Amino acid sequence: MSADNREIKIKRVTSRKRSRDSLKSHLTPLRKRTTASGEQCSEKTGERSHTRTMGENYSDNEDLFGDYDSILGDSSFLAKMDDAEKNMKQHDIDHKTYIDPVGHHLDNPDFTALRPTRDTCVKSGCDDSLTDSILEGLRDDPFRDVPSSQLAFQQEVLQRDEKNRCLDADKTSTPNPERSVEYRNKREEIDVAPKARKSMTDHLKRAMLCNAAAPSGVSRTTVQKEAVVTEEISVAMQAIESVYMETTDLGPFFGLPTKVKELICNLKEIKDLYDWQKACLNLDSVQQRRNLIYSLPTSGGKTLVAEILILKELLCRKKDALLILPYISLVQEKVRGLASFGLELDFMVEEYAGSKGRFPPVKTRGKRSLYIATIEKAHSLVNSLIEADRLGNIGLVVVDELHMLGDGSRGAIIEMTLAKVLYLSVHYSVLHSGSTQIIGMSATLGNVQDLQKFLKAENYTNDFRPVQLDEYVKLKDSIYEVDPKEEECFRFSRLLNFKYSSAMQKMDPDHIVALVTEVIPAHSCLVFCPTKKNCENVAGMICKYLNKQFLQHKEAEKAALLRDLKSCGNGSLCPVLRRTVPYGLAYHHSGLTSEERKLVEEAYSSGVLCLLACTSTLAAGINLPARRVILRSPYVAMEFLKRSQYKQMVGRAGRAGIDARGESILILPEKDKLMAKQLVSAPMEICYSNLMHDDGKGVLSLILSLIGLSITTTLEKIRDFMSGTLLAVQESRLCTERSLAEIIQECVTVLKDKALITESPDPQDGTLQVTRLGRATFKGSVDLIYCDVLYRDLLKGLESLMLNSFLHLLYLVTPYDMISQCKPDWMTYFRQFTMLSAAEQKMSTAVGVPESFIARKAAGQTIKKNVDMAVAGRLYLALVLFSLVKETDLWSVAERFQLSRGFVQTLLSSSSSFCSCVLHFTQELEELWAFRALLTELTRRLTYCVQAELIPLMEVAGVMQSRAKQLYSAGYKTLSHLANADPNVLVKTVENLYKKQANQIVASAKMLLNEKAEALKEEVDDLLMMPLDLPSL
Ligand SMILES: Nc1ncnc2c1ncn2[C@@H]1O[C@H](COP(=O)(O)OP(=O)(O)OP(=O)(O)O)[C@@H](O)[C@H]1O
Ligand SMILES: [Mg+2]
Repeated sequence: MSADNREIKIKRVTSRKRSRDSLKSHLTPLRKRTTASGEQCSEKTGERSHTRTMGENYSDNEDLFGDYDSILGDSSFLAKMDDAEKNMKQHDIDHKTYIDPVGHHLDNPDFTALRPTRDTCVKSGCDDSLTDSILEGLRDDPFRDVPSSQLAFQQEVLQRDEKNRCLDADKTSTPNPERSVEYRNKREEIDVAPKARKSMTDHLKRAMLCNAAAPSGVSRTTVQKEAVVTEEISVAMQAIESVYMETTDLGPFFGLPTKVKELICNLKEIKDLYDWQKACLNLDSVQQRRNLIYSLPTSGGKTLVAEILILKELLCRKKDALLILPYISLVQEKVRGLASFGLELDFMVEEYAGSKGRFPPVKTRGKRSLYIATIEKAHSLVNSLIEADRLGNIGLVVVDELHMLGDGSRGAIIEMTLAKVLYLSVHYSVLHSGSTQIIGMSATLGNVQDLQKFLKAENYTNDFRPVQLDEYVKLKDSIYEVDPKEEECFRFSRLLNFKYSSAMQKMDPDHIVALVTEVIPAHSCLVFCPTKKNCENVAGMICKYLNKQFLQHKEAEKAALLRDLKSCGNGSLCPVLRRTVPYGLAYHHSGLTSEERKLVEEAYSSGVLCLLACTSTLAAGINLPARRVILRSPYVAMEFLKRSQYKQMVGRAGRAGIDARGESILILPEKDKLMAKQLVSAPMEICYSNLMHDDGKGVLSLILSLIGLSITTTLEKIRDFMSGTLLAVQESRLCTERSLAEIIQECVTVLKDKALITESPDPQDGTLQVTRLGRATFKGSVDLIYCDVLYRDLLKGLESLMLNSFLHLLYLVTPYDMISQCKPDWMTYFRQFTMLSAAEQKMSTAVGVPESFIARKAAGQTIKKNVDMAVAGRLYLALVLFSLVKETDLWSVAERFQLSRGFVQTLLSSSSSFCSCVLHFTQELEELWAFRALLTELTRRLTYCVQAELIPLMEVAGVMQSRAKQLYSAGYKTLSHLANADPNVLVKTVENLYKKQANQIVASAKMLLNEKAEALKEEVDDLLMMPLDLPSL
């Protein structure tokens, strides 16, 4: 069967809009051709197609006895054990109040030192199931060094642990009010009699006594006996040490030091955990590190639980952790927020977003790392750790917004990442020190059982909301309360009170002004609109009808905000914002630059702005609650709202700690009444696997990377791996036309046809291998659709690379998937083209876009010439980038090309990500060597498209251009300046910088400085390390 007529068919169950572009066209049989280096690479015949809409590929010493040697010098080891145990018991009795889940304690022991002294270690309360942790400790020690008696003990513990791990994977925990009481009692028992510890010491005592007493096969001379006892003591000590290294309970706050509680209180302003948070942290599955999915409504406080678990992993288990978040801005926010925790608690916080992040990560010596990554970067990070055989260092993977598994190709990437971690976790738990735990959280999960099966996870659900939510719909001039339990769904609540003139009625037929003025300016309000343009119009329209008193509310702060907005636009200010901000209103959508968005968000959070007219993107992840949420229409663009979208939006209503209740109002045209009833009462949408999204692109790239990373290299093993995916769980629903096994077989054939994999030359071997192009493709995370064309473009580029300008290089790293998002304005195109140098124009002609073509297009003439429109579109985007790199002024470039500044910024960040992908791609292909140095510098230029002197400051998470400029002119010129800055001085010398922001900037800068220093130290270590294979006599 040829790939021409091969099509991977699946039944599309998901309601999400999917791209219908067939991968077929890109996976057609390839005319093989010989590359410059002689190796066969493939090239697709016919016209190439670049037009895709995606961006996802370019687009995170507890030594019980202190000094080890000193105990060896002391003959009475058992006496020491007894002492220690007595101390522990005494301490546990003394510290019975630790067991209060609220975390109150009596004498506030000092847990600030993370390397506790012998005493503080002994004193630590024991909250965890030690049995499980003992195993983790023991697994680190190869059995070969262990005397027989210890071996028996270890095997016993191992068996016990195995039993624990085999517990039912699909258990679901529902909130049980008795549970916390039950748990408290249980904990009290544990605290009074620390059984696990006791059994550990008992075992060791017994083992050593037996060894000493038993007539062993070793020499009977006293010296030899002593040697044996000494050896056993030493092994026992190692066991104890490793147990405590891995598991020592550092304190009373869910096993963490009190300092963590204090930090949470000081940095997050959270004084006490919600009951559900305590219950969740105390779940057996959490204690025993089983995989867990927990789902709660929006704003339920899910993040904090994940963060505490991450801290436990870093501090108690001494393992790295990976936190996966959906957006770059969320990653940056989290890096900023957790940097202070890292500095105080001595772990690294590393950013993996955009073009940031090292693959594999730097080995930090002794320090644990928290990687905070976007979906795409997390996948690359996991791949790089697998390749370096270091995945075992990751003890915990947390996925926020787990329902994104069902979100197109980004969902496929999450599934690939988790499937690899799951598969290798088994491998690592056998070979190394325990499996990697996976925790997923979400507010909107319709089919949690499928996900539980996939992740072999338990489930915790709770419908806790810190603030009660009242849902309403508005039909004509009446407000109805939503009650899905009632047959009608909507119960009449009240008539909307408003007096509109006929002109106003015309301008505002939905009575938005009447609805918002019931709450603003005293309270906050979000108005979700179906389109970007609508956001701007609604904000402008409301202002028209607000009285002048609104202008006086927080006047000075609003003036400062306008100044900031103007300065981040290099003197330009959006005319809509100029009009709306004085009234306390703004719009918020992707057309704003990220700096503007951040300023608007901060102003809204602090109450300077009281209303945002926004698109649904604001509902995803950002914590910007409102007293009242208005859904201006039940549509997003042209599509009727999905249940999950509706829930995300209305979930923003009610600000914890401020509002007693939150309310949402959906403005409903009569014609949509029936649909709206379904919307408010239907179950949550089902989350389906997306590995088959886009005609199986996910399965193809997954198989390619499995072979490339040598995870599985035979068809049989690939099938075995695939049986652990969400796709396999949902096979009966998703693979209706052919089985998963058949799909796998087909994908392998397609990959062979595309010359990305081959069979081993040794027919006996039967394994599959990646080709050089295949390796470059998965290492660079290049979309399979574009790998051929990218390779061909780069090779062609090498023949006549123009280096006296950035244009040619920029063209080569302009993301193919952005082309369809921008239609060239031909007059602008022509104008820009005529301004190019002769060499640049020659280069444009060489790539396939001659001047005559653009001139004719601009003149509106018909074109006979066969010019590839995708190439022309790509060159147009390259011209936008070229202007940006030259001028660094986003506003003027956006204006010149008549694009939104948000789009220009997205183009820039996608190009910098793609540039780093292309760099990794070229690193695998020797014939493309010349690009490496060039692309390294270009990635940097694109990442920080600013004046060179600002780059070191902008490397700090969340410091954007205008802030960098402020800091630079205030005298903070280097990373070191920022890292050593005094936040109090910063606040005084930099305009509009709050103390919290100053603290975060300094903490992030310190963290980055540490990271850079660690990287250098590792380089030194590598340099000085004696090679293991040094020839000797
Ligand atoms: N125990 C607590 N006490 C007071 N505030 C809390 C507590 N836990 C979390 N919060 C606050 O509640 C807000 C919402 O929390 P969070 O962002 O974790 O919600 P979420 O469950 O992740 O919601 P979403 O699904 O919208 O992402 C945050 O401002 C957080 O600081
Ligand atoms: Mg959240």
